Amino acid sequence: MSLAPGPRRVAAGALEVPSLETTVGSVHLPNPVMTASGTAGHGAELAAYCDLSSLGAVVVKSVSRQAWSGNPAPRMWPLPTGMLNSVGLQNAGVEHWLAEDLPALAATGATVVASIWGFSAADYRSVAEVIAIAVAEGRAPGVVAVEANISCPNVEDRRQMFAHSCHGVEESIGAAAAGLGSVLPLWAKLSPNVTDLPSLAGAAQGSGADAVTLINTVMGMALDPLSGGFRLGAGGGGLSGPAIHPVAVRAVYEVRSAWPDLPIIGVGGVSTGLDAAELIAAGADAVQVGTASFAEPAATVRIIAELSRWMAGHGITSVAALKGRGHDHS
Ligand SMILES: Cc1cc2nc3c(=O)[nH]c(=O)nc-3n(C[C@H](O)[C@H](O)[C@H](O)COP(=O)(O)O)c2cc1C
Repeated sequence: MSLAPGPRRVAAGALEVPSLETTVGSVHLPNPVMTASGTAGHGAELAAYCDLSSLGAVVVKSVSRQAWSGNPAPRMWPLPTGMLNSVGLQNAGVEHWLAEDLPALAATGATVVASIWGFSAADYRSVAEVIAIAVAEGRAPGVVAVEANISCPNVEDRRQMFAHSCHGVEESIGAAAAGLGSVLPLWAKLSPNVTDLPSLAGAAQGSGADAVTLINTVMGMALDPLSGGFRLGAGGGGLSGPAIHPVAVRAVYEVRSAWPDLPIIGVGGVSTGLDAAELIAAGADAVQVGTASFAEPAATVRIIAELSRWMAGHGITSVAALKGRGHDHS
């Protein structure tokens, strides 16, 4: 293990302010803390609570080619260590997002990551194409990357999510990459509900992803033991929040071990600066904050400040110096 040097003092009593700048492949970010898709709205909803331009990036809720109404209520079930949700990717369609939501978000000065999903590989291609055309026509201000959420149900084969097999990853990411061309970097958001995540991450990179986002929610379920009924309208749902943080740490760690040069965004249960530092030490280039923003809409801003203070207190002067520390053991 690398021993953290003591706090570096630059003037009498003052700790050196660390540089929080980071890169995810070709994307430069002012700091490594982004919002997670689906937990920060479609546009500028969180601007009422914090300065969105101060975040690493705002990753918006996933959009599809056509509007989609999502799953039946109830869609959320709170738990002591997080929550279960079955929102089901409700959205008004990519054209609506470009015309109605993105302009307000871009006006805040935020760095924006679009998130896309589809029922089929053709859907991924088509929604990515719409974004590529919008970029070419100057209708996608502030958008620096596209994250493909392939950890959602695939109606072409309901037993599978795209992210649950190398074939599904190749199909969906290959299609998104073809639709996007070289207009923007493509990030593949993968599922933790698998046995061999490094192989799936490799498949994503081999199919055109410039980075992988680890992880989406963990499959879960809650029942009323008396009636036997589901707590969520859709039956099953996705577990998020502090309960899944160790799952995310392991996912990032294992994928970083297998792919030393693959850009990784860590997400899962980040609610403090220390949680963010842990994912970066596991090998993440940046992190995302999801469930924490529901109880505290400005959680990302607090987490950036906590991360900076923690790094300063330990004499860690850059994200690069923190990244991958967990691998010094092996
Ligand atoms: C209510 C809710 C809605 C979500 N919607 C999306 C979505 O539209 N697209 C997506 O890629 N992930 C979605 N996610 C997953 C989050 O982006 C994130 O991967 C997951 O919640 C783990 O992070 P957390 O523990 O910080 O919440 C959603 C999560 C929650 C809780």
